[in-house]
Amino acid sequence: MQTKNSETLYERAKKVLVGGVDSPVRAFGSVGGKPIFIKKAKGSKIFDVDDNEYVDYVCSWGAVILGHADEDVLDAVSEAVKNGTSFGFTNPYEVELAETVSKRVKSAEMVRFVNSGTEAAMTSLRLARGYTGKKKVIKFIGNYHGHFDPFLVKSGSGLATYSISSSDGITEGCISDTILSDYNDAESVINLSKIFKDDLAAIIVEPVAGNMGVIKPDLSFLKTLREVCDRLGCVLIFDEVITGFRVSYGGAQELFGVLPDLTLLGKIVGGGFPLAAVAGKKEIMKKLSPLGSVYQAGTLAGNPVATAAGLATLKKLTRDQYDKLEDYGKRLEEGINKILDQSKLETIVNRVGSMFSLFFNTSKVKKYSDIKSSKTFPKFFWKMIENKIFIPPSQYESLFFTLSHDKDDLEKTLEAFKSAVNVLNHE
Ligand SMILES: Cc1ncc(COP(=O)(O)O)c(C=O)c1O
Repeated sequence: MQTKNSETLYERAKKVLVGGVDSPVRAFGSVGGKPIFIKKAKGSKIFDVDDNEYVDYVCSWGAVILGHADEDVLDAVSEAVKNGTSFGFTNPYEVELAETVSKRVKSAEMVRFVNSGTEAAMTSLRLARGYTGKKKVIKFIGNYHGHFDPFLVKSGSGLATYSISSSDGITEGCISDTILSDYNDAESVINLSKIFKDDLAAIIVEPVAGNMGVIKPDLSFLKTLREVCDRLGCVLIFDEVITGFRVSYGGAQELFGVLPDLTLLGKIVGGGFPLAAVAGKKEIMKKLSPLGSVYQAGTLAGNPVATAAGLATLKKLTRDQYDKLEDYGKRLEEGINKILDQSKLETIVNRVGSMFSLFFNTSKVKKYSDIKSSKTFPKFFWKMIENKIFIPPSQYESLFFTLSHDKDDLEKTLEAFKSAVNVLNHE
């Protein structure tokens, strides 16, 4: 495997980009070694600057679902860009994309487009607080909602209710209104709701966890969140930045039949461009400016190129396409499990549609504390890279595949997986 160009670029990047990157996971910190720099991607393949070709299971961290550089998306983008890159005023693509989102996502009566998942999460919390007049938010350990201050928390002093910041630069005041609970722990949410009943503005959750590996929710857990929010009059926020348009046609809320008050969308909704959204009940959404008193704005929000790309993507994502994704996922999961059965590793695969992850040294993962950190993951990662399969350089990230992944990719992946598992077997 050639690495010369990546190494040269990394040396240059380190001098001008902090850590040589613009987002920490790209630094390959948790697998060691030097980061790989990418120059292009097409379909299911990604190519590094040394011309190595990989089957891609990062897929822009889930933003790409049709396959890289899909021809219809490229056409839509070229058409849009001919008329200008940004107007700072509302454009036709934006309206049509909002209509499309609203038709597909059952709880999305109104939509506000923003530029990133972080911004969507930030807006939703301010909106929930403005709507309820309350301030506290319940968040689940191991769920990620971007890097807005109140969400950068971890549990402190052994008590789930007490949170401390997981980053410097965050004030205690900001963190003190975030209450932590374990994922899939309905009882803990009920207890917390009793303690904080007069102060609770929102519960925010990834309806399928995708940032501590992939963890399926218990249906009873999601239903409990709905019941608690109904009882207390607080806002249930589903962070569907990953799951929206990925786990089903209408997102996780369609898959599980539990509707939130607000939904956060990102990644797929922008067809690979910087676009995200807050969507939800009219009554709550109308609190946003200019109709309501909760301020929110954005120079590039609803940008014509990004909304055109999102629209072209959603047009191609018809219901039958999800059967195709499921079919690939099933074969992949079965193939991996067969290899694992013949190994001495205690490793499981968690999969929901086209997102999945491997958990090492464990048999069941329902919440963050069930996850065992694997010392051998870096070795596994580099072996997969050597075999030209690109998986996320972190044990805690979900793997994704697209409609472009085919039988040939599947075979290559399973072969690579077998050889990587063999390496771990001999550890
Ligand atoms: C569930 C979830 N919410 C929010 C975000 C933040 O989105 P962004 O990186 O676009 O700010 C992410 C990012 O991966 C995410 O996975």
